[in-house]
Amino acid sequence: MTSVSTKPGRPARELSNRLAIEGGTPVRSTPLPWEFPGGNRIGKEELDLVTQVVTARSPFRFYGSDLQGMVDTLEREWCQAFGHRHALAVSSGTAALSVAVGALGLGPGDEVLLPGLLWVSCVSAVVRAGAIPRLVDIDESFCLDPVDLERKIGPHTKAVLCVHMSGAPGHVRQIADICRARGIALIEDCAQAAGARQDGRSVGRFGDIGIFSFQLNKSMTSGEGGMVVCEDDDLFKRVLAMHDLGYARDDNGRLDTSDANCQLWGVGARMSELAGALALAQLRKLPDIVSAMNGAKWRIRHALQDIPGLRFRDIPDPPGDTGLVLICSLPSEAICRRFVDAVRAEGIAGPSGSLAVVTMREWGLHWYSNIPSLVQRRSNSRDGFPWSHPANAFAADYTYGLGTLPMADDLHSRGLLLSVGSTLSEEDIDDIIAAFRKVSRILTA
Ligand SMILES: Cc1ncc(COP(=O)(O)O)c(C=O)c1O
Repeated sequence: MTSVSTKPGRPARELSNRLAIEGGTPVRSTPLPWEFPGGNRIGKEELDLVTQVVTARSPFRFYGSDLQGMVDTLEREWCQAFGHRHALAVSSGTAALSVAVGALGLGPGDEVLLPGLLWVSCVSAVVRAGAIPRLVDIDESFCLDPVDLERKIGPHTKAVLCVHMSGAPGHVRQIADICRARGIALIEDCAQAAGARQDGRSVGRFGDIGIFSFQLNKSMTSGEGGMVVCEDDDLFKRVLAMHDLGYARDDNGRLDTSDANCQLWGVGARMSELAGALALAQLRKLPDIVSAMNGAKWRIRHALQDIPGLRFRDIPDPPGDTGLVLICSLPSEAICRRFVDAVRAEGIAGPSGSLAVVTMREWGLHWYSNIPSLVQRRSNSRDGFPWSHPANAFAADYTYGLGTLPMADDLHSRGLLLSVGSTLSEEDIDDIIAAFRKVSRILTA
C-alpha cells in the first residue's frame, strides 16, 4: 500500500498500489459531475428571468407587446463586465464567426490564417465567405504560434483568426502586435474563454472583433447563443447588419434600409429574449464559475507539477485562465493512450456520455486533420467554390492533411485533456490528483 497525502491538513489516504486497469482497487467508484460549467449552475435565477419573458409574451428582442429587454441588458452588462465598447448577442458562436468574417468584408482573393487546433466553425466561416483558410502551427500554449504566424503571412493575408483554446489565451498580445504592424485584421475566437483575461485585459479586446459561444460546454450557457464584441463604431454597424437581415434597425426595432453603406446579406443570427434571459442570469454567475474552475485546475496542476514526463500546457497568465480544461502532454502516443485508460479505470470519468478525460486523438473536429471537408476541400456548391474561384488560385498548393503542421500533429498524438467543470468538490479534486499520481508510474515504466 502507498500512502498519498493529497492536501496539507488532510489525513493521508491509503491507496492500493495496483493500478485499477491491472485489477487493483480504483481511487473512486462514483462518477465525477458533468463537466458543463454554466449548465451545472442553472437554477432559480435563470428560471425567474425566462419566466419573465414568457409571462410578458415578448420573446423577440427588437419589439413586442411587453418587451423585457433581456438581450439589451445582457449586452450592457457584458460591456460593463469586460470593458468592451460594443457587444452584440447572437444565436451561436458559429454564427458569430460568420458575422465577424462578413463584417470585415473577407471573400475571394483573401486568405485567413488559422491555428491547427481550432473548431470546425472557424474554417467554415472562412470557406463559406469565399476566402481561403491557411493553417498556422500551434506552440506549447496549444494556441497559434506567433513565430509560424509571421512566417505564413503573405500577400493575400487579410485576417488572422486566433483561438483561445480550452479557456485560456496563448500569446495573444504578441499576435495582436504582429497583426497591427502588418495591417492585418485580427479576429479572436473566445468561444471557449468567456471570463478569461491576459495581463488584466479581457479576451476579445486584443483584436478587431471577438466572438464567444454560449453552447453547453462553455463557461456560461444559454443552450445556444453567443456574443460578438468590437471597439470600432463603423465596424460594429456592419456587425449589427450582418447578424440580422443585412440592414440596420431604427429606434422602433424596424429594419432601416436607407444607409447605402450598410446594405449587406445578413446571416439571420439574432438572439431571442428567451436565450437572452438565460445568458443574463449566467453572466451574473460567471465570476463564481470561473473562480471555481481556475481554483480547481491550478490546485491539480500544482499538485502534479513534480511528475516527470507529465508536461502541462504553457499558460502565459495563470490568473487570467478560466480553468475550463487541463491540458498536458506525455512522452509518446502509446503512453498517452495507456495513461488515459488507466486514469479512467481509477474512476476519473463522468456520467455515461461525458468527456471528462480524453486523449487529443479523441477530440474530433478541434484538430485540422480531423476535418474531412477541409482536408478534401469540399464545397457546398456544385462548382467547388471557393477553392475553384479564380481569385483563389494562389492557394492551389496549400495542404490541409495530417503532416501540414508538425507541432500540432505531435501534440495531437500525445496530448490529453481533463474537463475541469465548475462543481468539483474538494474530494473530487483530491481523487483526480490521487489518480494521476497513482497512474504516473506508467510514465517511468
Ligand atoms: C473554438 C470554438 N469556436 C466556435 C465554436 C462554435 O460555437 P457554437 O457551438 O456556439 O456554434 C465553438 C464551439 O464549440 C468552439 O469551441
